[in-house]
Amino acid sequence: MKLLETMGDAIKNGRVPSRIFNDPEIWELEKTKLFGKVWSFLGHESEIPQPGDYVTRYIADNNIILARDEHGGIKANLNMCRHRGNQICKAEMGNSSHFRCSYHGWVYKNSGELVGVPFLKEGYDGLLDRGNFGLVSIRVDSYEGLIFGTLDKNAPTLEEYLGGFQFYLDIYLKPGPNGVEVYGPPDRWAAETDWKICAENFSGDGYHTPVAHQFGFALGYFPSSGTTHNLGWAVHIPDKGHAIGLGHTPGLPPFVGYPDALVQHMKHTLSEGQQELFAKTRTAVGTVFPNLSFLIQPFSPIPEEKASTVRFCTMRLWHPTGAGKMEMYSWCLVPRDAEPEYKERAYEAYTLAFGQAGTFEQDDFENWTNLTRQVGTSLGRTLEFPYQMGMDLTPVTDFPGPGVAVDRYVTENNFRNQWATWLSYVGAE
Ligand code: FES
Ligand SMILES: [Fe+2]
Repeated sequence: MKLLETMGDAIKNGRVPSRIFNDPEIWELEKTKLFGKVWSFLGHESEIPQPGDYVTRYIADNNIILARDEHGGIKANLNMCRHRGNQICKAEMGNSSHFRCSYHGWVYKNSGELVGVPFLKEGYDGLLDRGNFGLVSIRVDSYEGLIFGTLDKNAPTLEEYLGGFQFYLDIYLKPGPNGVEVYGPPDRWAAETDWKICAENFSGDGYHTPVAHQFGFALGYFPSSGTTHNLGWAVHIPDKGHAIGLGHTPGLPPFVGYPDALVQHMKHTLSEGQQELFAKTRTAVGTVFPNLSFLIQPFSPIPEEKASTVRFCTMRLWHPTGAGKMEMYSWCLVPRDAEPEYKERAYEAYTLAFGQAGTFEQDDFENWTNLTRQVGTSLGRTLEFPYQMGMDLTPVTDFPGPGVAVDRYVTENNFRNQWATWLSYVGAE
């Protein structure tokens, strides 16, 4: 595709073609060249705690059953009967030791083996080897409770793929010795928005916050103000696409919004470098390339009332369903070791801000849906967008974490790396 041949140079010069954000041809390439190669997020271990628990998820258009088998192992299999292709599990979540196809009745264990075939003797006369027709299994690996799958048998390990980004993921995943758990099932909705817009926004678009979410500052939901909003760091892992924005407000207490007991725990769960950085981080908004994002944010559900400040965490998967179309999975993560009362307050703050009815979510999707429509128009798709913010910044030399860090919260360094990484997949021969 001609556009992709020139895009590498364009990114180096701080430009990205508008067309990539809503285009059927691009989506066809993404399905195989991007989502066929990367590690995609499937679920959190706390969603399937018991043997038999399962959720159904997607990697691009492929529907996958993520299950805990009868021995406690985690298995991912394509949700497609090997007989004629019927979807064998039609629920989004549940508990079952077996799945029975509703068409001719083939039965599979939740680990994927084919164990039941009606008329095996009378019909197949011993000609069918059941061992060859288990569900198509998907390679899985996990980090701190996050379960990922890849369709590429030759993909590097998940550890290699994350490439040091684990250091930053720990701000979301290790608020205590027992990590985090989901607070209920994910909020789900469909939107006419391209997944890339959202993944970019959550790689550290501090630029939009004082405008799109201006009411948050005006009403006092944040323990910070617009004037210090540019302070902090933007960090990315070169060539991997993972990125995070870390906002810093001078004068806030360390780990603002967490109960003291948890802060004490973190002395043991986090490295010294992590403690130094995370203690002064107000907001952390990051994306695991390509489409899993996180936000941790201190928030006062009763505006201006500092005592109500709580630190909520959302994890979100921007699941593409077509060009300029997506389905949303938005979870609230809470520290397992926190008191139930704190977990509930964190969840309340999350639902006020994010999820289907979240005020900040509405601000974002209104903008994202609008711009997705614009970049799909005949003239709109021919433009280039400027990505020049922070091009001359020199990386911080003594930053406590891995990757390339710059000393600014509002910048586009992370996005240039993100779209260069995207191009390395989608534009590959
Ligand atoms: S399609 Fe599943 S048993 Fe025939
Ligand atoms: Fe936003």
